[in-house]
Amino acid sequence: MTKVTYISSEEKITTIEVDNGLTVMEGAVQNDIQGIDADCGGGMACATCHVYVKDDWYDKIPKKTDGEEDMLDMAFEPNEFSRLSCQITVTDELDGLIVKLPSKQG
Ligand code: FES
Repeated sequence: MTKVTYISSEEKITTIEVDNGLTVMEGAVQNDIQGIDADCGGGMACATCHVYVKDDWYDKIPKKTDGEEDMLDMAFEPNEFSRLSCQITVTDELDGLIVKLPSKQG
């Protein structure tokens, strides 16, 4: 189990324990975190699981694929810390990960 903190666009902070092997998106959906709709179910085809990774964590998570990069171009207000949460698999190394949700999502 790995702790992941989700911060809503209104600064509501929710920390949950996510099973290793699940994605940050799956952890959010299973725990009713508002703002991660994950319309495509993790298929990298919707960008409704877009998050901003807290800056000091950004370099600690595995790099984006080109496909993720392309989909992020279609996300709402992407920035240099943007990731698709369905593409971040939770591991022990990510214990304490913090992600923020874009304003259009929650
Ligand atoms: S859930 Fe659709 S791109 Fe992540």
